[in-house]
Order: sequence, then structure tokens, then C-alpha cells
Amino acid sequence: MEVPSDLLVDINKLGDYVGEVVTLQGWVETTRGHGKVAFVVARDGTGTVQCVLVRDSVDGATWELYESLNQEALVSIKGKVKEDVRAPGGYEIEIHGVELLAPADDYPIQPKEHGVEFLLDHRHLWLRSAQQRAVLRVRAEVSQAINDFFYTREFVRIDTPILTGAIGEHAGTLFKTDYFNETAYLAQTGQLYVEAACPAFQKVYCFGPTFRAEKSKTRRHLTEFWMVEPEVAFADSDDNMRLQEEFVSYLVERALERCFDELQVLERETGKLEDICPPFPRISYTEALEILKEKGSNTEWGMDLGATDEAALMEDHDLPLFVYNYPKGAKAFYMKENPDDVDTVLCNDLLAPEGYGEIIGGSQREDDLNRLIARIREEGLPEQAYAWYLDLRRYGSFPHSGFGLGLERTVAWITGRHHIREMIPFPRLMNRLYP
Ligand code: 4AD
Ligand code: MG
Repeated sequence: MEVPSDLLVDINKLGDYVGEVVTLQGWVETTRGHGKVAFVVARDGTGTVQCVLVRDSVDGATWELYESLNQEALVSIKGKVKEDVRAPGGYEIEIHGVELLAPADDYPIQPKEHGVEFLLDHRHLWLRSAQQRAVLRVRAEVSQAINDFFYTREFVRIDTPILTGAIGEHAGTLFKTDYFNETAYLAQTGQLYVEAACPAFQKVYCFGPTFRAEKSKTRRHLTEFWMVEPEVAFADSDDNMRLQEEFVSYLVERALERCFDELQVLERETGKLEDICPPFPRISYTEALEILKEKGSNTEWGMDLGATDEAALMEDHDLPLFVYNYPKGAKAFYMKENPDDVDTVLCNDLLAPEGYGEIIGGSQREDDLNRLIARIREEGLPEQAYAWYLDLRRYGSFPHSGFGLGLERTVAWITGRHHIREMIPFPRLMNRLYP
């Protein structure tokens, strides 16, 4: 057999080498065939390709090696690139030679149904499977789109600290750690810090991991998740909602445009996503409660909306829905009091359709020093920790608004997957710190 010089190529570039003999390195996904013709499907991280082995055209050792190949063994395959419209990806390799680079005996994840706990225990290997690859590519695309959206609108990215001394959202879900004899918390939000950066840059955002000691085991909660939080000086609550609908529509459009194949792998009904564009419908919290009452909900005015209420509201909507101006008592201390109704605050949640619930929480911020101090006291928060935050209201206080979008919840909706735990490479849940 003629041994050509090695031309190492990536599977997604095979189209440039039709008719040529190339070498690729990849992991074996499947092998089949024992008669005259056999097939090896290999994956190199850029794509997968079917390689065809004709028994009579290779030596005995090559055939023997083929028969010993296990799932996830790393191989080097040399062969001729052929165009084949029936092949997944459009190309096939006619194998001239195979070399085993690294064996893989008894790969735990077999092409059959596995329980989710088993898969999560093997998350480090599960990442290799087609659906997980598709999900994580969509995540990476959405994450890139987030940065692109704000970059093209001249926002400055501010990287906020993960170790903090002030409670950002709720005292109930803090991770505490010892910090040289002080208590530090893992950040629940970067918001207070991006607010501080507004007078420096006007339009800013942070994007990074945030932490909440959620004791709930739901399909929407992680203990470590990624949040993007823009903050805009001189923007009011209406401006804030407009930015949100443009932003979310852009993210969906980017996923459709650049991850269409991945959405197909995930069997996502893309028609529903194609219709996502501004403006999104808006209802006040009070209106929401009236609708919910008609639907039989027991939620009383003053309570936050739970997952069941959100799902009931979304029964009537194919577009994301804004619910604005919640009762003060149901929301965080920093939200601005509504001048037209002091029992409510100028805020909004954005609910995603198809049962995905809240993907954004946002608000205009309280810019009145005394009202903010009063809210901090009402909530029983340690005033000293917020001294710097109050300075923002002492020195040229300014109207401003912002929001936080949860990356994993958004990707769950876009990919149409049921549970948020697959939306992050290594999920952290109440009962999971491994792998
Ligand atoms: O509504 P939240 O708590 O808002 C804030 O943290 C504000 N500081 C944001 C801001 O105004 N800058 O959280 C915002 C979003 C939620 O809508 C949800 O998408 C996501 O963060 N989120 C979670 N995602 C996964 N697991 C959890 N435990 C989450 N908690 C919130
Ligand atoms: Mg919220």
C-alpha cells in the first residue's frame, strides 16, 4: 500500500480536500460492519465523519485493528476524501490506513438511555455527546452575542468582584467564606458595582458567574450561574424594557443565524424562535394578578410570582412578556419607588414563553439618598457595608436603570431543553459539586 505524506486536516475542512489523501485525528464514535465493508465514525471536535474501510483494499493488520476499536479510542485515519451527499456532513473518507493513538476500554456512556444522575456523574465525558455539544455551542454563541451586542452599542465591560462584603440580593441565599477573619460572600450580582461605574462610562455591563445558595431543586435553579448585567445612566424603567426586548431578540436571532444545525440536533421547533422580535407585550403586576385570579391562582397582592403563576400567565403568550412594577415588599432594596404608586417599585421581570419563566429581572434604581437608606434599614441590611454604594447618591446622584439576564435560563429556552443543568459545562447544584 502506498503511504502518502501526512496532511493533517480538521473534519470541518474536508471540503477543501476532495480527491486528496489526508490524515485526521479523532475519537471513535461508532464502528459497524464485519463483512467486506466496515464503517468508522470519527469525531475531532470540529465535526464528525464517516470513514469507509474495504477489507480487500487494506492489509490484515489494519482490519484487525479496526475490529479492536472501542468507542472513544483516539485514532489517526489516513484516507481519500470523497464527496457524498448521503453522508452526514457531505463527505466520506475512504480509509487507507488506521493507527491507534490512545485506547479507550469500557467507555461508560453507551449509545443507550442512561439515568440523568449517572450522566451528571460522568459530565466530564458526557460533554462529548452530540446533544451536549450542540447545547454548549449555542451557549458559546449566545455568550459571544452578549458581548457583541453591548460592544457595538458602546457599552464598557466592567469586571465586578466575585468576593464581596455586601449582600447584593437576598440574605437567604448567600455563600459565605472566611476572608482573613472577615466574612466574604460570593457575589449574587455585580449590579451594585456596575452602578458605580456608570458615572465613569455612562453605559456599562458585567458578565460573569454569580452564586446563590439555592436550597431548591428545580429545573431553573443553579447555585453557580452566569449573569449579564447592563447598567445605563439617564435611562428610566421604560428605556430599560426597550433595551431588554432588543437585546433578547438579538440573542435569539444570532442563535438562529449561527447555530441552526445545533438547534436541529436538539430538535428545537425554530419557528417559535423566528417570531421573537420587539415590541414584547407588557402588563403591570396588578394586571397580572387580576389575570391570575381569573385562572384560579391564590396569589395575593404583595407576594412575588412563583413558577406556577408565571406559567399560567404565559399560556396566552408566544412572545416574552414583561411584568412591571411589582410590590415594594416583594423585591430588592435598591429598586426605585414608583412616584405614582408608592407601594410599588419601577421594575420588571421578563418571562420567556414555552414554560421557561423569568429570564430577566431589572429595575430603575433608587437614586434618592434618604429613601435608599430607609430601604436598607427596613430590610435590616448592615448599613456600613453599603457606605460606598450610598456615596453614589451623595455625589451627583443620577437616574439609572439596568437588568440581569440569566445565561443558562436563556439558553434553555433557546435550545428548548427541559433542565438548566445541561446549559453549563459543569453544573453546580445543591447536591452536586462533582465533577
Ligand atoms: O432577578 P435577579 O435576582 O436579579 C438580579 O440579580 C439583579 N441584580 C439584576 C440587575 O438588575 N442587574 O436575577 C436575574 C436573573 C434571573 O432573571 C434569572 O434569569 C437568573 O438571573 N437567575 C438564575 N439563574 C439560574 N439559577 C439561579 N439560581 C438564578 N437566580 C437568578
Ligand atoms: Mg428575579
